[in-house]
Amino acid sequence: MPASNQELHERYRKALPSWLALYYEEPISMERGEGRHVWDVEGNRYLDFFGGILTTMTGYSVPEIVQAVQEQAAKVFHTTTLYTSEPMIELAEQIGELSGIPDAKVFFTNSGSEANDAALMLATGYRKSNQVLALRNSYHGRSFTNVAITSHRSWSPTSLSGLNVNFVQGGYRLRSPFGQLDDDAFTEACVDDLEQVIDMMTSGDVACLIMEPIQGVGGFATPPDGFFGPMQKVLNQHGILLISDEVQTGWGRTGEHFWGYEAHGVTPDILTFAKGVGNGMAMGGVVARAEIMDSLGANSISTFGGNPMSSVAALANIRYVLDHDLQGNSLRMGQRLRDRLQPMVDETPWIAELRGKGLMLAIETVHPDSNQPDGATASQLMEHTKRDGLLVG
Ligand SMILES: Cc1ncc(COP(=O)(O)O)c(C=O)c1O
Repeated sequence: MPASNQELHERYRKALPSWLALYYEEPISMERGEGRHVWDVEGNRYLDFFGGILTTMTGYSVPEIVQAVQEQAAKVFHTTTLYTSEPMIELAEQIGELSGIPDAKVFFTNSGSEANDAALMLATGYRKSNQVLALRNSYHGRSFTNVAITSHRSWSPTSLSGLNVNFVQGGYRLRSPFGQLDDDAFTEACVDDLEQVIDMMTSGDVACLIMEPIQGVGGFATPPDGFFGPMQKVLNQHGILLISDEVQTGWGRTGEHFWGYEAHGVTPDILTFAKGVGNGMAMGGVVARAEIMDSLGANSISTFGGNPMSSVAALANIRYVLDHDLQGNSLRMGQRLRDRLQPMVDETPWIAELRGKGLMLAIETVHPDSNQPDGATASQLMEHTKRDGLLVG
């Protein structure tokens, strides 16, 4: 008899840290997946809108990706960056070209946190400054450096850091002091705030500003299109680098664009990616202009980064995304979802708004007819969708 959901929950709680968040009053354990569906160990089937935190991007058991991984597994699992490896090199060439960053070089990591760590090391080293700007309501990962640039009380276990971080106003309009302004005035107010923070709270020689084009963990908070254009103009006046954390917004998910930054008429100096690229295989990375990427003054390696298993999965996955125009699918399906959800949102007093782009859509639950966040209702909603066979985040 396979273990039940309950039994695995009990063993998980005993063997793993108490601070690991688990979904659902009765957490589930996935046994297998196919297409967009997963089955738990008790045989319950779910339509999966969540993809293991937005990571099973093209679906479960996609034959082209399974075959690529199986063929590679029969050859060699692992080599390290101390040897050249064709899958890693081909992937770097391809992602460099897709990134839109001129003269791009790519460094591979195993997660989004590690990718942002590497981006911060590059930016602070290149600029010889430990001063970093991030956006309020941001989430960039769980490592020591990323906790320092994350602006969420519930995801901030420590304030200790070697970085000197200031948080500027960003795109979370529902709770912004500038939220009532129209798009242009809102952007202008945030740009003024950025200028003031640089002038009053730093010594001017800031290394970088890191941003998510749409804030993921922050509830898909979406700034007006073009928002980061005037923000980057201010950064450029000071030589401050722009890092676009595309861990959630990359690979066409927003429908309109392949990368989230493209909605803003900017090109970042550094881009980070992870999650969906390996369709579940551990894979992340940083893209930067060669001048920045090559600026590290010491040796570095990665034991697992760019390993052949993850690289062939990512190559097959990206090929699938491009060949099947999944960006176009995000646009069409996102619009369909939005069209059906919007009337419901409009007439529901405990939903504040529907926001996001493409297949990156969120609703925010509030106490009825107020702006007060209501996490308990969000949890209830999750329980109900699960009961009805739908997984959301
Ligand atoms: C925007 C963003 N950046 C970075 C991360 C960290 O990625 P990982 O969990 O792979 O370390 C996340 C994870 O949710 C994320 O949403």
